[in-house]
Amino acid sequence: METGIDGKVVAITGGFGSLGMATAALLIERGARVALIGRGAVPDPLPTGVADALNLGGVDLSDLHAAQQAMNAINDRLGRLDAVLNMAGAFRWETVADGDPATWDLMFAVNVKTALNASKAALPHLLRAGAGRIVNLGAGAALKAGLGMGAYAASKSGVARLTEALAEELKDQGVTVNAILPSIIDTPQNRRDMPDADFTRWVQPREIAALIAYLLSADAQAITGASIPVNGRV
Ligand SMILES: NC(=O)c1ccc[n+]([C@@H]2O[C@H](COP(=O)([O-])OP(=O)(O)OC[C@H]3O[C@@H](n4cnc5c(N)ncnc54)[C@H](OP(=O)(O)O)[C@@H]3O)[C@@H](O)[C@H]2O)c1
Repeated sequence: METGIDGKVVAITGGFGSLGMATAALLIERGARVALIGRGAVPDPLPTGVADALNLGGVDLSDLHAAQQAMNAINDRLGRLDAVLNMAGAFRWETVADGDPATWDLMFAVNVKTALNASKAALPHLLRAGAGRIVNLGAGAALKAGLGMGAYAASKSGVARLTEALAEELKDQGVTVNAILPSIIDTPQNRRDMPDADFTRWVQPREIAALIAYLLSADAQAITGASIPVNGRV
């Protein structure tokens, strides 16, 4: 079956995280070749669905040079680079009154700078590949911050603005840039943090992965600069 992503080379930042693994598995199932980039060591063992991925551990994407080395290595090893999924990120909850202003720097470094650096590093390869794709993981909080969500929401708003600016920059060069804004994803970490919640209302990682697969396909060529909420029943 033609999936629209057959043979495409896709780099996933934060690739050893929950959403990264689930997305990698779905894209590999549909014929893509996937490279996972993570800050920590490569998990051992890896889930069977991602056994065929190229894995790059120990890469801190808040450093542009590290991002460039990673993207160049993927292009060298897999022969091209068609898409980057910026999933590296982190969350902090703290109020302004009791919180530390350094948390705002941390959120911008981990959520905005990683996406900026990975996109900038991938760009020469994406332009060469033609019909390149960048998909950023924002968050619903980019649209409205809740209590204790100031630093996180501001940084995810930054991801949405980066998405729009880069989409404008690239719109005549065939590269689309979009953001996905999930509410709460059904991950092991969220189940640990919110044990009394109704998990059935949350978004399944594979539902986001399926949207990403569509955004990577030729059918989605006209979609760029979009921030797409994916709320489940939250
Ligand atoms: N989970 C949710 O409910 C939810 C909701 C809305 C949006 N999102 C967004 O969706 C994305 C994926 O979420 P997730 O739940 O899969 O998160 P996750 O499991 O925490 O995975 C994020 C990954 O990013 C990596 N990372 C952090 N900083 C990095 C850096 N400087 N360089 C390279 N890698 C770095 C982390 O590595 P370390 O383990 O080394 O820190 C981690 O493996 C994130 O951007 C998140 O903000 C998630």
